[in-house]
Amino acid sequence: MSARRFILLGPPGAGKGTQSARLIEALGIVQISTGDLLRAARKAGTELGRKAQSFMDAGQLVPDEVVLSLVEERLSREDARNGYILDGFPRNIAQAGALDSRGIVVERVVNVSVPVLSLVERLAGRRVCQSCGATYHLVNQAPRESGVCDQCGGVVAQRKDDDAAVVESRLRVYESETAPLIGFYRARGILRDVDGLGTTESVYQAVLAALGN
Ligand code: AP5
Repeated sequence: MSARRFILLGPPGAGKGTQSARLIEALGIVQISTGDLLRAARKAGTELGRKAQSFMDAGQLVPDEVVLSLVEERLSREDARNGYILDGFPRNIAQAGALDSRGIVVERVVNVSVPVLSLVERLAGRRVCQSCGATYHLVNQAPRESGVCDQCGGVVAQRKDDDAAVVESRLRVYESETAPLIGFYRARGILRDVDGLGTTESVYQAVLAALGN
């Protein structure tokens, strides 16, 4: 069977990471999140991680050459052969062009929409395990014990870029840089829209259907 490649598109807080975590189990493919790759590079103190730092903390896009070099390396790994879900990539038309120029054929792009007020509320309440990356929400999906990950016992804390001022910048950058990808992929006939409001289960079912499963 040929590799299945999907893109989850949507603003910060739309639920891309939450949905990807479930989809990879159902579809038997891997999640490639450029946000996670960049955070791992920062944690490891690599040169790419250092280059990314100030952009991420300000809610700006990291320069394409930094992101593309991380993505290139990740796509070349054995576990990406069966397919993948791209989460947070591409983030602008140039990054989409980079996929094209490498001959990577994407089967479907799912555009998850959520109203801005809900995005702000989701990001304000989001907490993430510093060890395994599991995502929580203070109201919707709190860990059983406050500040402790249900899955690995790690410390659950707020992401630095979920600070209100940085969120504002991330939402602006999404509108100017990333939202144009909706028209870009719609014109190719491979984009499907999903309403990202509702329970994580109902959104999951809608995304699965949009992926053609
Ligand atoms: P990245 O990590 O990609 O962040 P993002 O795109 O802003 O997306 P988020 O992770 O904030 O949100 P999400 O959609 O995954 O939502 P989640 O599932 O967690 O990027 C971070 C930074 O890295 C960027 O600002 C940039 O600097 C850099 N970067 C990354 N990729 C780049 C690229 N390609 N090029 C250049 N720079 C790049 O859900 C959010 C919250 O909502 C959680 O608390 C969750 O529990 C809750 N929730 C989820 N679903 C629901 C639901 N249905 N109902 C209620 N609550 C829900």
